[in-house]
Amino acid sequence: MAILLTGGCGFIGSHQAVVLLDAGHEVVLVDDLSNSRASVVARISAITGSEPALHVHDVRDVDRLSNLMASIDCEAIIHFAGMKHVAESVERPIDYLDANIGGLTSVLQAADQVGVRRLIFSSSGSVYGPSIRFPIPEHAPKAPTNPYSLSKSLCEDLLESVCACDTSWSVVALRYFNPAGAHPSGLIGEDPTQLASNVLPVIMEAAARRRASVPIFGTDLATPDGTAVRDFVHVMDVAEAHRRALDLLESPGFEVLNIGRGVGVSVRELIAATARVIGQPLPTIDCEPRPGDVPALYAATDRAERRLGRWDYRGLDDICRDAWRFRTNARPGAVIPSPVVAPDEAGS
Ligand SMILES: NC(=O)c1ccc[n+]([C@@H]2O[C@H](COP(=O)([O-])OP(=O)(O)OC[C@H]3O[C@@H](n4cnc5c(N)ncnc54)[C@H](O)[C@@H]3O)[C@@H](O)[C@H]2O)c1
Repeated sequence: MAILLTGGCGFIGSHQAVVLLDAGHEVVLVDDLSNSRASVVARISAITGSEPALHVHDVRDVDRLSNLMASIDCEAIIHFAGMKHVAESVERPIDYLDANIGGLTSVLQAADQVGVRRLIFSSSGSVYGPSIRFPIPEHAPKAPTNPYSLSKSLCEDLLESVCACDTSWSVVALRYFNPAGAHPSGLIGEDPTQLASNVLPVIMEAAARRRASVPIFGTDLATPDGTAVRDFVHVMDVAEAHRRALDLLESPGFEVLNIGRGVGVSVRELIAATARVIGQPLPTIDCEPRPGDVPALYAATDRAERRLGRWDYRGLDDICRDAWRFRTNARPGAVIPSPVVAPDEAGS
């Protein structure tokens, strides 16, 4: 029996594949490669010694997906596939609803056709919206502020409703805060084929002199240093959380867990930590806040600790060091001697 990872070539999916293969699971990936590369499979294989099968297609192709699930004797699905950028979702709201809600609906239809009833869903801490209460517990009201987080919130509601109507379903929605870092081998990491917009890959581009400076979106926010505060959590810990959450699928029903470190780190603190780790200063440029972003977001982690158990989460320096190792090791030629100014450097 195999675990199907939709979006399995992406940032979190590829690390998930490593963690599951290392734990002895059979893993199959489905990905349309809209934001990733097929070459990651060889890298997963180099780390683990096992090569997962990759099926390249859109998850919204229900027939192909259900045939695949049947052929691999699928025991559970981890649904990572989707679009993930807040600012882009404000520009392309309908694409986000289609990709994220349409994607989930297709996965549910395909699973239903072949009798798979176990799913872990990639949700997001952004479903909480603006809050004055930190850290944010799972029972805090949802208040999505943009089409991306709305799509995640609606997906959760759909899943909860499916589980209420059909008690043979087991679903865990994991609300990730800010996954970052890379596998310590430096072989896999965050390597989007579309424009990098998560803050750490952007910092890495500046560190590698691919852009002249790090844009800081919002410098006068209601936070201690005026920049956005987020809960950065190492991607290997996010993957470990999923591995443990598979056990929760033994019991039917719907459950939501926050996945973060429970530590608020400002963008300026993240930039300073990266500069310390790589041993060079990083120029910054102040920019207006992006639409849909909230000033602060960090997780209450006690429920996840109760349900998944405790382990030592990697810290901020590990996150920066591993991301930098991936940037420098796995992408030779990425570090170039003179600064190259990205076309959008003026702070779009
Ligand atoms: N990385 C984060 O900061 C973060 C935070 C919270 C939630 N999430 C969620 O976690 C999931 C994984 O995020 P990630 O950072 O690994 O993103 P990613 O873009 O690196 O990975 C997503 C993968 O899904 C694939 N994909 C997209 N649409 C597809 C489709 N219709 N059919 C098949 N494949 C498709 C992409 O090619 C990519 O490989 C996403 O659902 C995202 O919304 C991510």
